[in-house]
Amino acid sequence: MIPAEKIIVALDYGEEEKAFTILDALKGQALWVKVGMELFYSTGPKIIHEAKNRGFKVFLDLKLHDIPNTVGQALKALSGLPIDMVNVHAAGGSEMMKRAAEAVRLSDTRPLLIAVTQLTSTTTQQMNEEQRISGDIVTSVAHYAKLAKESGLDGVVASPHEVQAIKLICGSKFITVTPGIRPLNGQAHDQKRITTPSEALLLGTDYMVIGRPITQASNPQEALATILKGL
Ligand code: C5P
Repeated sequence: MIPAEKIIVALDYGEEEKAFTILDALKGQALWVKVGMELFYSTGPKIIHEAKNRGFKVFLDLKLHDIPNTVGQALKALSGLPIDMVNVHAAGGSEMMKRAAEAVRLSDTRPLLIAVTQLTSTTTQQMNEEQRISGDIVTSVAHYAKLAKESGLDGVVASPHEVQAIKLICGSKFITVTPGIRPLNGQAHDQKRITTPSEALLLGTDYMVIGRPITQASNPQEALATILKGL
């Protein structure tokens, strides 16, 4: 069985009506929801309040990546929102992450601050050839996780395959948030480094981000129930 409070449902919609429909369908479960760029840019803060009013914890996934001052000020501007988790890109560097941590510490709700390491849609070949980072993905993810921890962040986003390496370097309390989760026989879509919910749990993930397998299912409640059973 997978505890509902470990599941973060990715609300990857551009229209608020669709997001409200899924929020209403899943209401009553101790879940998190993830509001990403697409939804936040189209609805603004309203969606955060709507999700909180329905009892969900909210992860605002804006993946901030800019100069330290801009990221710090952006997080300051978000500090009045009732969010429980927010994130930046570790590739923005330690100074940027420190400024982000400082801004979050001063905010009213003190959300968890996490860093994206390597996107789960990135392959080793892409990382080597396009980002010009040599070696394998796990080494790069572990390096970014260490940098994030040293910069005062609470955890990282990574693939479940990298959780053990992260925990080894950063300790068991350092949070791992893992997308790239697919039920057995589920479609991979554009995700490259995937596991099933049960595998992710065994690998020690703290939170699993699951989008399309729930939000694009013909019956989202049924899809969630199957996932909670660990299938
Ligand atoms: O639909 P799916 O389950 O693939 O959704 C995964 C979600 O996790 C998407 O919202 C995507 O933006 C996000 N994400 C990811 N990989 C990362 C960070 C975030 O897939 N490294």
